[in-house]
Amino acid sequence: MAKVMLEVRDLTTKYITRFGEDVYAVDHVSLKVEEGKSLGIAGESGCGKSTLALSLMGYYFPPLHYTSGEIIIGGRNITSMKPDDIRKSVLGTEIAYIPQAAMNALNPTQKIIHFIEDVVQAHDPTENKKSIYDLARASFEVLGLPAEVLQKYPVELSGGMKQRTVIAVSVILRPTVLIADEPSSALDVTSQKMVIKMLRGLMETGFIKSMIFITHELPLLYNVTDDIMVMYAGQIVEQAPAKQAVFDPLHPYSKGLMGSIIVPESGLRNAKLTAIPGVPPNLKKPPEGCRFAERCKYVRPDCKATTVALYNAGDHRAYRCILSEKTLREAYQHAQS
Ligand SMILES: Nc1ncnc2c1ncn2[C@@H]1O[C@H](COP(=O)(O)OP(=O)(O)O)[C@@H](O)[C@H]1O
Ligand SMILES: [Mg+2]
Repeated sequence: MAKVMLEVRDLTTKYITRFGEDVYAVDHVSLKVEEGKSLGIAGESGCGKSTLALSLMGYYFPPLHYTSGEIIIGGRNITSMKPDDIRKSVLGTEIAYIPQAAMNALNPTQKIIHFIEDVVQAHDPTENKKSIYDLARASFEVLGLPAEVLQKYPVELSGGMKQRTVIAVSVILRPTVLIADEPSSALDVTSQKMVIKMLRGLMETGFIKSMIFITHELPLLYNVTDDIMVMYAGQIVEQAPAKQAVFDPLHPYSKGLMGSIIVPESGLRNAKLTAIPGVPPNLKKPPEGCRFAERCKYVRPDCKATTVALYNAGDHRAYRCILSEKTLREAYQHAQS
């Protein structure tokens, strides 16, 4: 059986705002990533993707707070570890996170090699500069990046090169899990392709053992990930192998996401361009019952009255809707014709 690299059980985290209000951005999320596998997380802006990524590192600072649940990485439950121990023995080595827009947040006065020194020395302060440089050079070579980049400042690099450099720096300590948050969103199509290619290669070159790739574009995940999880209003609404999530989504929200984007390279040229009307709900006061009901084309009177659980549909699939698979598929067929 494949080894589990990351397991999350029933994780709930919240922001406590200055006005004392709670924002439940990650609501009872469970997931598993096995060795050699990648998980994609999709959902519109504000659905809780980045908060989930931050929460997975087990390193909380206000306004984000841990509420309940477990995070197990490399066999250790990190939710019971002290922040200092997480910083020393988990971040960078077990779990590495590339935040959204990381490449624009690079300190402009620091050369790339100095970022790498910071990352390595945060883990082991006794590492000397010479050995860090040797490690960086060797890693860049394997990852197909020119070693000259190490001596450059961020402004001297193009957008695509900057993003690939950020990725290379994040995986320098060969983490068990890499979380890349919208890594290709701000790039032109050519650079986007190079970033995707690099991410795909990270497991083959042994830099990482597993990956979580976050984007609001569901079809993009089909090219990169084995499984897909769709989030809506802080909750998982669908989990499925990538192909099914993209070509045979069950939840009306996943169906809507699929229809709202066209990615020509992935052979989805004929997808209809239909944005989902409305916006995700305010997570300070999420609606009762199904959180998507307000925007759902297939809504029934019961949807708003009952709390909807994530239903295990077998074949590694789950979805959060009161309608049966059969009813949903018939409704989608009907809508198409
Ligand atoms: N620092 C914060 N304080 C309070 N609420 C926040 C903060 N950051 C994000 N949120 C809220 O948490 C929810 C999830 O946001 P986020 O995780 O950034 O979503 P996504 O990455 O899917 O766009 C949103 O409702 C957002 O307004
Ligand atoms: Mg985000």
